[in-house]
Amino acid sequence: LGLGGAVGAVAFMLGLGAWQTRNVAPTDPLLPLPVTAMDWTLTNHRGATVTPADWIGRPVMAFFGFTFCPDVCPTTLIDISDWLEALGPDADRLNVVLISVDPERDTPAVLADYLSNFDPRIVGLTGSLSEVQKVAADFRAMFEKLPRDGDYTMNHTAGVFLHRADGRFASIIDFHEDRRFAIPKIRRILT
Ligand code: NI
Repeated sequence: LGLGGAVGAVAFMLGLGAWQTRNVAPTDPLLPLPVTAMDWTLTNHRGATVTPADWIGRPVMAFFGFTFCPDVCPTTLIDISDWLEALGPDADRLNVVLISVDPERDTPAVLADYLSNFDPRIVGLTGSLSEVQKVAADFRAMFEKLPRDGDYTMNHTAGVFLHRADGRFASIIDFHEDRRFAIPKIRRILT
């Protein structure tokens, strides 16, 4: 994540604020879609196919990232592992997913190896570039490939998206949001 991603996240939150004050219907184009309206097919780090229908019935905590990310993604994964530990067995009911924005490098095997460093409840998702574009669009998340030193890195939306078990979008946990605020947000989708 670079500055662009942070700016994107800020723009998103401004949009959310506008929604709350104007009381516009939750089909606002700035808000993530409900899971029931999403349309994508991805593969998890164990090689199984996952579609939005698989998420219905359990609350979802999702964020976008990639295994080569130098700082933001590992930090977020450490935060998520900390929140899951704090929530205890309640958190077993969550679908916790890292959606790769770098499917070129993040094969299921690469994701599995990477995620072995974090809470085992975190599931990695990857797929074709077009499917990753679809899932990002459904979440109103952004990502882009940036050349760097003869290689490339990915810029992407930070923040953790929360959806209820019935698929409704609930809220976002911002990057580096204090756990005193983050954990109650997760508890709300667990009730
Ligand atoms: Ni990252």
